[in-house]
Amino acid sequence: MKILVIGSGGREHAIVRALNRDPQVKEVHAAPGNAGISQDATLKAVDASAPRDVAALAYDGGYDLVVIGPEAPLAAGVADAVRDAGIPVFGPSQAAAQLEASKAFAKLVMSSAGVPTAEAVHATTPAEAIEALSSFGPPYVVKDDGLAAGKGVVVTEDREAAVAHAVSCLSGGSTVVIEEFLDGPEVSLFVLSDGQNLVPLSPAQDFKRIHNDDAGPNTGGMGAYTPLDWLEGYAETDPAGVTRNFTEIVVDTVARPTIEEMARRGAPFIGVLYCGLAVTSRGVKVVEFNVRFGDPETQAVLERLQTPLGQLLLDAATGQLDADRQLEWSNGYAVDVVIAAENYPESPRKGDVITGVQEAERHTGVSVLHAGTVLDENGELVTAGGRVLAVVGTADTLAQAQARAYAGAQKISWPGAQYRTDIAAKAVAGQISVEPAV
Ligand code: AMP
Ligand code: GLY
Repeated sequence: MKILVIGSGGREHAIVRALNRDPQVKEVHAAPGNAGISQDATLKAVDASAPRDVAALAYDGGYDLVVIGPEAPLAAGVADAVRDAGIPVFGPSQAAAQLEASKAFAKLVMSSAGVPTAEAVHATTPAEAIEALSSFGPPYVVKDDGLAAGKGVVVTEDREAAVAHAVSCLSGGSTVVIEEFLDGPEVSLFVLSDGQNLVPLSPAQDFKRIHNDDAGPNTGGMGAYTPLDWLEGYAETDPAGVTRNFTEIVVDTVARPTIEEMARRGAPFIGVLYCGLAVTSRGVKVVEFNVRFGDPETQAVLERLQTPLGQLLLDAATGQLDADRQLEWSNGYAVDVVIAAENYPESPRKGDVITGVQEAERHTGVSVLHAGTVLDENGELVTAGGRVLAVVGTADTLAQAQARAYAGAQKISWPGAQYRTDIAAKAVAGQISVEPAV
């Protein structure tokens, strides 16, 4: 197989590395990629969000499969253009990508499909927004209705801040969604779909806020770990005596009804449905859908995947996913820690020289995946984005995987580099517990 991966982040670096481990994959190209990806794939220049350009590149290159990493090309219709050129593509159509691109659309689909999610009010004026904030009460959840790379959401006890965010979304021309607050730990579950059949991956947890203890603004994600031992006991037994584990519950109550609803609407979902979930005291509820792999969860999840990824994604792209397929995972754990640039997420500084990457990778069980990196004119590795690198640690225990990720992260530096020091800490300390709602 010859595969083209679209995107330039840490997620795409993880996808490229996993594809390289598949013996059936002979060649991996990435467009536009980054400095780290260039060591694992041939880079092609393209505007990733220009449907015709990507389709032309895919056609001329004779690829067997195109894998689209980020949401922006999907929302722009890149998957449609590639599919129209007759090339299998892993990634949903523009119509199906609305599940992420419009929060209001996602709520509508969930409501039609009976999928549990936070109650929400879609406001188009400040007065409507203020009324909704009063009716839900604190903590306030205010979301920009559009793509904002995870940064359009404000969750706050501060009513003035909630109102200010709502007003700023509305004045920017967007509408705003005001939601019920969901308590309980968050889980990201990726479910592959060929439009009809589903195969779930292993649950992961992401850390969305910039600072330790979930302080500061939301980011794209500052670290992740997998698997989640604290979900082990989470099971439901139905009246017929059939017991379902966490993943089965999510597939049955969230992913399958959503995929079926999308097919019913004439927008079959082909790709990966990212189910962002809260394990609340009232059951599992959807916080958000994304229409692509999560970043930085993918950097941890794919590290443990033993099933060859290329064939799996091709099966999804060509309507041949085997719903009974049990994926193989390595024993043990993976933790990844994102190192971000100074002033991320507001206005990250770029162009700082990065040191210590090779030293970090010399540690056992440590790999470094690149996101915002570029080689400057002197051939030096420099920062080129908000989230710059993800350091992945793998080991037999979660504590050791975490220790390895941090041992690697400590070797890496540039002026203003910042990372959270509490990724996976609560899980390591056994401080997360959940019980199924009865
Ligand atoms: P979203 O972009 O919708 O995923 O929101 C980003 C983050 O905000 C989520 O990962 C949660 O941490 C938080 N969040 C969003 N919606 C809610 C909610 N209804 N209740 C509590 N936290 C939320
Ligand atoms: N890590 C959150 C996301 O990918 O949207």
